[in-house]
Amino acid sequence: MRILPRPQKAERLAGQFTIDAQTTVFCHPDFQDIANQFVAQVQSCNGLVLQFCDNVEENQIHFVLEEGTPLEGYKINISQTCLTVSASDKAGCFYAMQSLCQLFDLFAPHETLSTVNYYVEDYPKFAYRGLHLDICRHFFGVQTIKKVLDLMSEVKLNKLHLHLSDDQGFRVQIDKYPLLTEVGSVRAGSEVVRDGKRFVEEVSHSGYLTKADVAEIVAYASQRHIEVIPELEIPGHMVAILASYPEFSCTGKVAEVRKNWGISKDILCAGNEESYQFVCDILDEICDMFPSEYIHLGGDEAPKDRWCNCPKCVEKMAELKFDNFAQLQNYMLEFFVSYLTQAGKKVIAWNDGILPQTSLDVVSQVWKPFTTKQGIKQANDGRKTIMSPFFTMYFDYPYGMTPFKKTLKFNPLKGIKKHARENILGVEGTLWTEYIADEEKLFFNMLPRLDALANVGWSGIRTYFGEALQGRFARYDQLGVTYNVRAPKQKRSLRTIRKFFKVDANGELAKHKSWLAKQLEK
Ligand code: ACM
Ligand code: ZN
Repeated sequence: MRILPRPQKAERLAGQFTIDAQTTVFCHPDFQDIANQFVAQVQSCNGLVLQFCDNVEENQIHFVLEEGTPLEGYKINISQTCLTVSASDKAGCFYAMQSLCQLFDLFAPHETLSTVNYYVEDYPKFAYRGLHLDICRHFFGVQTIKKVLDLMSEVKLNKLHLHLSDDQGFRVQIDKYPLLTEVGSVRAGSEVVRDGKRFVEEVSHSGYLTKADVAEIVAYASQRHIEVIPELEIPGHMVAILASYPEFSCTGKVAEVRKNWGISKDILCAGNEESYQFVCDILDEICDMFPSEYIHLGGDEAPKDRWCNCPKCVEKMAELKFDNFAQLQNYMLEFFVSYLTQAGKKVIAWNDGILPQTSLDVVSQVWKPFTTKQGIKQANDGRKTIMSPFFTMYFDYPYGMTPFKKTLKFNPLKGIKKHARENILGVEGTLWTEYIADEEKLFFNMLPRLDALANVGWSGIRTYFGEALQGRFARYDQLGVTYNVRAPKQKRSLRTIRKFFKVDANGELAKHKSWLAKQLEK
């Protein structure tokens, strides 16, 4: 079976269906755009221009609106004389079209276009099937993001979580605070691990998305049924913001956009009333740019050292009668949650920024290393949750640390009580980019993990899928993107992990490239 992620049900039928010059297309008006995309894909694959017709006939591809099909789901029924696609919504029809492209292998040139006949019934296991992309540690612009969106949509992923603000860079135009990009989008150097050393290389790195860029990305994503979820981290991971506007830090002094990775002690001052307005102003512009249901407010890794020594923060604690600074962070989170709720948005935060008393309106994204216990408890206690465990869904680490098969075998419902299963919205793979400085490494680390993620999020069938994966590899070759062809066989390796942290952060990719060069010589 060539469809990836694996369909919920696929029955092989007798015979095969061939698309030829006599094949026509008949479609419900709601699905016209999608049928057009299919026709264009056929044309780019072998030059054939399929004609539309407005009545049912033989040798036809038929896109039907069928009420009652699950949301985002679809059916494909192929007989010798007719191929019928049915769905109740556009997303479902779009995913059926993606499955057809895979069945007919429309991503590579072919003389004949045929598939063995199938009856397919398919729908997603989870409504939230996401990929996170950090464009702060290294900036990736519109063209790269469009490629990521294409790849995501082909395997039925539907959320792109864009990490826009961190210690090492602020990456989106905000008109009210121009220094956020004038100062915050430029850093003087970056930490690297190379030649057996970890050091800061004093080479400037910069970049940000303009409002026009965001509009282009959001429109492109929407055509592919992908919601782009912006993340503004609060109160930690804000050095690039605080270097631009130091008056919102506790000390009033934040010298520069951070060059090292890791965790900074400089966080947003919680005792300064103006901090709150400042963040609301930024959120206003973000809400205008991103028409998403969700906004991510970060909340992870926020050390309280500065708050402890800040008279304003200490006074705020006393005024609110809190006895620890985690409560103050929670107060801040709830402040912005109410603000965003009024703007019609839902909030996601990393699980370590959420307390048991945090409003249940806040969705938890579970990542915390070593144990997902806290996240599992949050879901069992009634909180909507997205699963991104560090040792499974962090695609920025080498395959020798997080093997492809480990991602593929992940069960997001493990440990979740029956009554709480509906609290698991889904899964998300993350691509932090401290050690991903270019597209080559980005795609190497992403592919084929994206396919494993899609299988976990869409089908929930966690077994290996060799034939379909070969189809994806052919697609990657056609796009000219790097991918790890040996990933399905790769196991955890302590040597690779050590090398990544201490010797050469790009060592696994370098090894892959020299292996590939040898294969090509043979
Ligand atoms: C995280 O990886 N700090 C959410
Ligand atoms: Zn303070």
